[in-house]
Amino acid sequence: MKFLVNHCYEIIPNKVLDSPDGSLTILEALKEISFNIKRVYYINNLIQANSIRGKHAHKELEQALFCISGHFTMKLDDGENSQIIKVSNNSRGLFIGPLLWHEMTDFSSNCVILVLASDYYNESDYLRSYDKFLNYIKDQRAE
Ligand code: TYD
Repeated sequence: MKFLVNHCYEIIPNKVLDSPDGSLTILEALKEISFNIKRVYYINNLIQANSIRGKHAHKELEQALFCISGHFTMKLDDGENSQIIKVSNNSRGLFIGPLLWHEMTDFSSNCVILVLASDYYNESDYLRSYDKFLNYIKDQRAE
């Protein structure tokens, strides 16, 4: 996959064991997941067709996101370039680095998203308005 935005890349698991009994996918910290995993969360029960999730960027948090069932649309924006990606259950993940505005929509009802995060939940790491996100990037560049 070609990325037009910074702070994002595709994560390819080193080991996917496919068999008629199902697929087993393995991910390890400091290997294909580039950081030490401090938190795991998942999103499911996406029963409303028009759900929107994300709509924020992080100052420092690194995340690895895997759509382990179904599909959804990810909109990414690094403040200069934006990109829309269809994410589906294909065993590949997305690295979502800091300073990357992301919005998730168009979830299939069977969609399950697993996220591995580099740090504990900390609301002060969030940039929850797009204007704040752009201003934060501008201030960082000026430093
Ligand atoms: P948020 O990160 O905005 O979710 P999403 O990007 O999936 O839309 O978090 C939604 C709410 O859940 C918000 O009030 C913060 C809370 N939350 C925690 O308390 N701990 C966590 O680890 C996460 C991810 C969210």
